[in-house]
Amino acid sequence: MPAATLLMMPRPASDCAPQPLFADRLKDRALYVENFDETPFQFAHYLHEHPAFQLNALLEAAERLAQAKHNKSHYESGEPDRNAWFGARPEGTTLVQALASIQSGKNWVILKRIHEDQVYGGILRRIIPELSALTGMDIAKVYYDPTMTIFVTSPGRITPYHMDGETNFLAQIHGEKLAYIYDGNCHDVLSQQHIEQYWTGKLPKIDYPDAMPVGQWQYTLRPGNGVFNPACFPHWLQNGNGVSVSVSMNFKRRHNAAIGAHRMNKYLRRMGMNPTAPGVSLSVDRAKEATFGRLYSAAETLKNRVKG
Ligand SMILES: [Fe+2]
Repeated sequence: MPAATLLMMPRPASDCAPQPLFADRLKDRALYVENFDETPFQFAHYLHEHPAFQLNALLEAAERLAQAKHNKSHYESGEPDRNAWFGARPEGTTLVQALASIQSGKNWVILKRIHEDQVYGGILRRIIPELSALTGMDIAKVYYDPTMTIFVTSPGRITPYHMDGETNFLAQIHGEKLAYIYDGNCHDVLSQQHIEQYWTGKLPKIDYPDAMPVGQWQYTLRPGNGVFNPACFPHWLQNGNGVSVSVSMNFKRRHNAAIGAHRMNKYLRRMGMNPTAPGVSLSVDRAKEATFGRLYSAAETLKNRVKG
């Protein structure tokens, strides 16, 4: 598929109402309704104009996060290739130092769950109804755990090939970045065993498909555009010559029979069976989810509670 064309557009004339954070014209809605949750697509937004996403504001946010009791933010340094795995935090460097040296370093800083900060939580709460209007779907009802994460990367830095189980909008704020996305439904990309391992927490790294270096979709991300990445569609990213700032807004589906089916299939396969792949029969998927899937989820919940 050819690289998508860049969507850039002027902000609508201002009035007394709060400014929208995403472009919302008839053609935008058509794009979301046609593709959301199934196929990658490029969208237009105004988040890059928001003061909370400028580098000085992010430094202040990183300082607040560093003080937080359960700070899950990650940072690392190095020059991984697209088939590498994520690295460890550099010893003797703090989150704020890694962010402050982003221009000259080889750093990758992830401000995780930044919506738990009051400023960014307020922005995410504005975004959800906008996305509901664009997609024609009540996002708060159909999805749970809305999460905002900010990625700040040094010039030239690569984000290695990986996949996420959440449905994800990645908005570019600063700098330029190439995004390569792979069809998670394609068996040459992901096997059933890979997906089963992922949903049972046993997939540390997925195999990079050497025969498909740039995936099925390629996008150039610049301030004012972004890409929708469906859940379980693997991807890798290549930063341009400057610092890149991207904002991820991701969501988990409340009802997803395929997850329970994948979990059950892993154990059926272990017993020597060749189970039906999710998506072939919705009634079979639902039966697997309602039995093994629910038991698995309950056991996970209990395990997490015991862990504290
Ligand atoms: Fe990702």
